[in-house]
Parts: sequence; structure tokens; C-alpha cells
Amino acid sequence: MTSKTENHRLTRVEDDAPLGQMLRRNFWIPFARSQSLAPGGPPQRVRLLGTDLVAFRGEDGTLGLMDELCPHRRASLALARVEGCSLRCIYHGWRMGADGTVVEVPSEGERSDEFAAQIERNHYGVREGGGLLWAFLGQDEAPELPPLPFLKVPEESRWWCRMMVDCNWLQGFEGALDSVHLNWLHQGWQKDKGDSVLEAYPRLTPDYEIERTDYGLRTCAVRKASEEETHFRCAEFIAPFYAFSASRQPVIASDCSVFISVPVDDTTHMLFFGFWDEIGPLTDISGFFPDELDHDNLISDEFLPHNCWGQDREAMAQGHFSGFTKSVLHEDVGVQTSMGPIVERSEENLCSTDLAIVRTREFLLEVIAEFEAGRAVDGEMAAYRDGGNLPFSCSAPVGSDWRNIGFRAHEPAE
Ligand code: FES
Ligand SMILES: [Fe+2]
Repeated sequence: MTSKTENHRLTRVEDDAPLGQMLRRNFWIPFARSQSLAPGGPPQRVRLLGTDLVAFRGEDGTLGLMDELCPHRRASLALARVEGCSLRCIYHGWRMGADGTVVEVPSEGERSDEFAAQIERNHYGVREGGGLLWAFLGQDEAPELPPLPFLKVPEESRWWCRMMVDCNWLQGFEGALDSVHLNWLHQGWQKDKGDSVLEAYPRLTPDYEIERTDYGLRTCAVRKASEEETHFRCAEFIAPFYAFSASRQPVIASDCSVFISVPVDDTTHMLFFGFWDEIGPLTDISGFFPDELDHDNLISDEFLPHNCWGQDREAMAQGHFSGFTKSVLHEDVGVQTSMGPIVERSEENLCSTDLAIVRTREFLLEVIAEFEAGRAVDGEMAAYRDGGNLPFSCSAPVGSDWRNIGFRAHEPAE
């Protein structure tokens, strides 16, 4: 059972909370799809770990990320004008370069440079990779972007959507680790879409086998497909907030999907959901996510208690199982937000199929404790680079061990 104290440690990220501090000082954190920030376009408000920021892209493409409020008298720089590669606050015209340095203070006339030089630089690390924009909020030198497989594939091999979710990050993340809910929560959606992809593997109750790694966990759902064959569906949890699943495999053999649950603050998270194909262009996903959905804000304001989180009882009366008909992620977010802003895990009654969730909590608590003890945290995700696996789904002769089938994400070093 997860105690109240453990639940607190696993969920809180604001101020001095150890989890938030650990993420802030060690990890790159994705905050937007690359395409959502156009050169010279409007700045974008960003909130991560309870800190309010503003991101912008200068006219030549240079990225900037700084505290949201102007260093002068704290107007929001989300209102600022983008001028060349700088932001000009509309209140009194102070201008900040993409690196956060104040470069012009019009009220000071000829003394502008001298005055500006005294103002502390307001800036955070920002990079682009794998179709996403990433922030590093630590003061120390940032590591390289994480060695995750979707960062290596070309643009035509990946697809992203993003959404803000009104509940704590771990509620979302545990949904990504909980493969049992696929056959319940998502069944109506599969039937409704007439989609056979998620049903391609046998719908028999699996046994779950879990293997701890240096970077997180591998979890495998093992099903007896026939007298001769066993079916494996293997997912990867990579600390701190990545989960890879075998997506449309085995129908599309190299198709993978990823959930990234980014803590915005204690009671909100940002979910990035994406597909990538390891070896070629991504196979069409429009059956899952119609084009008319907003890819930067997939979930709008519909998830409120007073409307039962947007559940459609009419659709249910006509045979839809869950009543969340817009996308598979609407089903996830509906149940996750219904649990309240931060679920009290000490009140749960876990069962055998929750083992992956239990192990993940244990793993995260250990990483937090290591950080508090002053030991190094693997912010570079070197453990994944050196031994990380790809998710997979396949059948193999009875007696095979899924641990020997895995596909490495990186070639082992010589
Ligand atoms: S508040 Fe921004 S320039 Fe004064
Ligand atoms: Fe789900």
C-alpha cells in the first residue's frame, strides 16, 4: 500500500518538493510541439513544476525561454511583441534578448545599456528535438537531450499531440502503465471505430511479468495464444515520466507509441502522446485521432464534474462502452480527472494486475530518496542509452522468454 507520506512525495512538484527539485535540476522537460511556436509568432505561456514561463521563437528561429513576468514591473511577457530575436514588453518597452538579457530600457535614454547591464538575466535552457520543444530549469549546465528513440527518427516517422489535464501527473502516468484497462475502458471505442488493430493480439487475461532495469521497468503481458504459441506485449517505463508501448504491433511491426506525463504543477499535468515508427514513415493515424482535433490542445474544457467529465450517456445507450467517443485519450482523461486533482493512494485497494504501478512507485520513491541523499541522478538518461529497450508485441513458441526477444534502442557500445 502507498502511504499518505509516499503519495505526497510522488505527487508534489511545486516549491521545495523533492520530486520537483529533482526534475528541475536534472532533466530536460518537453513543453510544446515544435510546430506550435512559429518564428516571429506570438510568445507562448508555459508552466512547468509550478513555475510560470514564456517561450518564443525569434524571427530567425532562435528560441527563448524565460520567466513569464517582465523584470521591470512584472507584466506578462506573453503579451510582449517579438522584435527580431527579442521580446519587447508592451508596458514600458523594455526589450529582452532570446538569452534573457535585458538589452534596452527606453526610459533610461543614453544610460540604457549601463542600466540594463545591472538587471539579472532571466533565462532557462531551451532546445528542439524529435518534434518537441524542451526546457531545462536547472541552474547548472544542462545535459544532452535524452537518448530516446523518437528523437532519432525523421519527421515523417513521428506524430505528436499534446493536452493539458486537470489532475496530478502521476494519475496520468499510471494510466500509461496500466495495460489492463485497455480491454475495459477502451473496448467501446475500439468497437465503435470498427478498428481491429488493438484487438490483433489475443484478448485473454494475461499474466504480467515485470523486470526492473537501471532506467525503470519492463513490463510484459504474457498470454497463451494457442497450444504452440505464447503472445508477449512488452512496455517500457523510463524514469522519470516516459512510457513506451507496442502501439499497433504486431499489425504494424515497427510502430511504437509514447506517453510523456509532464508535471505542470501539483494538480495539473501536460500529456504528450505520440507515435513513431522505428524504420520508416509512420502509418496513418487518422483513425485514432481525426485531423479536426487540435493537436496542441487535444482536450478542451469538457472534463468537469458537473457534466460528468463529458461522458455521453446517449452513446452508451447505443452500445458505446465508456461514453467517451472523441478519442481513446478522452477516455483516459475522463477517468483520470474523475479521481480528483490528487488521488489519495492510501485509500486504494490494489489487485494483482496493478503490479507495474506498484513497482513504478517504488522505483520513483527510490530515485527521489537518492536525490535527497545528494547522490547523482541520471539526468542524461545514460542507463537508457546503454541498455534501453524498445516496446514490442509478438508471438513466439511456447517456452520462449520475452527477456531474450527484446529490441535494443541503441547499439551497444563497442
Ligand atoms: S513591466 Fe515590462 S517594461 Fe515595465
Ligand atoms: Fe488508456
